This record gives sequence, structure tokens and C-alpha cells, in this order.
Amino acid sequence: MAGNKKHVSYVVSVLLWLLLLIHQCILGRGGGGGGGGGGGASSSGSTILMDRRLRYDFYEKTCPNVERIIHNVGCDASVLIASSGTNIAERDAEINLSLPGDGFEVFFRAKRALELQCPGVVSCADVMAIATRDLVNLVGGPRWEVKKGRRDGLVSKASRVGNNLPQVNQTISQLITLFKSKGLTILDMVALSGAHTIGFSHCKEFMNRIYSYNKTFDIDPSMNKDYAQTLRTPCPKNDHNLDPTVVAFNDVSTPAIFDNAYYQNLQKGLGLLETDQKLFTDPITRGYVDSMANDQHIFFSYFVAAMIMLGGVGVKTGSDGEVRRDCGFFNS
Ligand code: HEM
Repeated sequence: MAGNKKHVSYVVSVLLWLLLLIHQCILGRGGGGGGGGGGGASSSGSTILMDRRLRYDFYEKTCPNVERIIHNVGCDASVLIASSGTNIAERDAEINLSLPGDGFEVFFRAKRALELQCPGVVSCADVMAIATRDLVNLVGGPRWEVKKGRRDGLVSKASRVGNNLPQVNQTISQLITLFKSKGLTILDMVALSGAHTIGFSHCKEFMNRIYSYNKTFDIDPSMNKDYAQTLRTPCPKNDHNLDPTVVAFNDVSTPAIFDNAYYQNLQKGLGLLETDQKLFTDPITRGYVDSMANDQHIFFSYFVAAMIMLGGVGVKTGSDGEVRRDCGFFNS
């Protein structure tokens, strides 16, 4: 259940990009900062407008083999901008510090391969969107067509990550509000949370559930007790120097496979994060959890629909932003 990231670096890469795509690129944009980087297209109205400017055949003439060339991951690749001087870039924000170099490296390599064939043509944001799709599919998940034509942001600021990310201590209604502000429905939220069928979380994200939960319960009563006990070994109480490489699988039963086991786990109190488990305990979302737990096809079709929505949220197109030559740096 708990493991060392080094042993599963490829799967980690998959997850990192999904995590980046959702947590930073999409949910993390548009809130503060007000700059051009996020594009500010966070209402559903502007989402639809922008989405129309994305096309399946966007690179048909300029880089017809784009999908074949990309082996790995990526949205608005602002998260990839390296910090320089006083600008602490998104990839260095505290919540991103756990994202190891190998995940980024995979993506940089894909972009470099693309630059050899079609220099200056394919945006980092499109590379990320395509690679994420490929990688989900590679670990057993669904496949979908990705619309292209995104441009890369010109602003990357750590301060934009913070408040716009979903947090494990948020209520379902706070999460619904956050997703809604990006044009995403409750169903989208539950389906996208199914991405926790793969990946890891650090101890600090669930420590409060396994020790001194509240005055009445030592362990979160919505959590399976045996599960909580096994999590205590890698995540000792009162350890203020928690090893940042110690992580627990988000999906305790099939951690490296993109399937609907995540939802079945929730039905058994085996959700790792408090927000995961709340999707089942809260009557607003429980029905969706049950239907996705019952039928993997249903999960996949809702997940794909939500990912397609997500791929059009807040994107820059046309002459906005730039096509970054190196995903780690602005062109100038
Ligand atoms: C609903 C609200 C959500 C909350 C509160 C949440 C929270 C978290 C947290 C705390 C982690 C662990 C981070 C760490 O310890 O390094 C995590 C991991 C992850 N999340 Fe979410 N998340 C949410 C929704 C989503 C969505 C919608 C997706 C994708 C569509 C997603 C994809 C992932 C992935 C792939 C990982 C694993 C990353 C890795 O293995 O390094 N999450 N999430």
C-alpha cells in the first residue's frame, strides 16, 4: 500500500501529468493573479467559446505526425516554467515539490522530439493534453480524441496555485463550487476524481484521518479501521519530519491500473483522502459513486466526457500566449 516512488517511476509519470493537468493547469488557473497566463476563461460561457477554437486536425498541415511523435504527457504548461530570480514558478509551489524530476523529464523529452520534426509548431499545452490521454490509456484507461490548438501561457506564478487547488479538508459543497467555477458539473467532479484510481498521496494528506481524528474518534469513522492501521506504519504519529518519499497508493486495491476499483473502495471505507471518502458519504455524490462502482464502462464514458470538457477550460488560442520552444522556459 505504501511504496517508494522510485520503483514505479513510469506509472508516476502518468500520474504526475494527470495531476498537473487537473490540479494545476485547470483547477489552479483563473482565480487570482488576473494575468494573461491563466487567460481568465473560467466561466462556462468562455469555456465554450474557447473550446470552439480547438480542432482535432489543428496540426494536419504543420505537424501531421504530432500524436505519433508524442510519447508522453501535458494543458497550459505554465507549471513547467523553471523558477528564476524572484519569480517562484508554479512547479516550485509547495504542493508541487513532491513532483519529481522524472515526470517533467518525460514531458520535456516528448517536446524535444517534436521540435526536431516540427520546430515551434506544437504548444506545450497540447503536448500535455495528448500525452495525458495516451498515458491514461496505457495504464488501462479509456482513449479519447484530443482537440488541439492550445497556446502556452506567458505567466507562471506560485501564488496562482494555492487557493485554486482542491484541498483534502474541503467539503463536498466547497469542491462543487470550485469545479463549477471552471464550468464542471458535480458528475464531472465525481468522474474526474476517479483519476485517483492511480497515484499516490503523502502522509500529511491523510494523517488527520488516522490519528486523533476528533474528540470522539481516534480514526475517521468513515475509514475502514484495518486500512487505517496499515497506514500508520509508513506514517508514524507525531513524526514532524515525515519522509517526503513515503507515499500511499490512492487506490489500495489496484494502484497501477486505471479502473473503477477506486469507487468500489469508497463503498468499503477504503478511500485514502477525506475528500475521496466524502464522495461516498455525502448523499449529493453517493449515487454517482455507486453507478461508477457498478459499471466500469459508465465510469470511462463519464471520465472521457469530463476530460474533454476539462481540456477546453481556460485555454488560450489564436494569437494569445505563445508556442513555447522549450516547455521549461518562456521564449523571451
Ligand atoms: C476532488 C478534489 C481533489 C482533491 C482534494 C485532490 C487531492 C489530491 C491530493 C492531496 C493528492 C496527493 C498529492 C501528494 O501527496 O503528492 C492527489 C493526487 C492525485 N490526484 Fe487529486 N485531488 C482531487 C481531484 C483530482 C482530479 C479531478 C484528478 C484528475 C482528473 C486528480 C488526479 C490526481 C492524481 C493523478 C494524483 C496522483 C499524483 C501522484 O501520484 O503523484 N485529482 N490529489
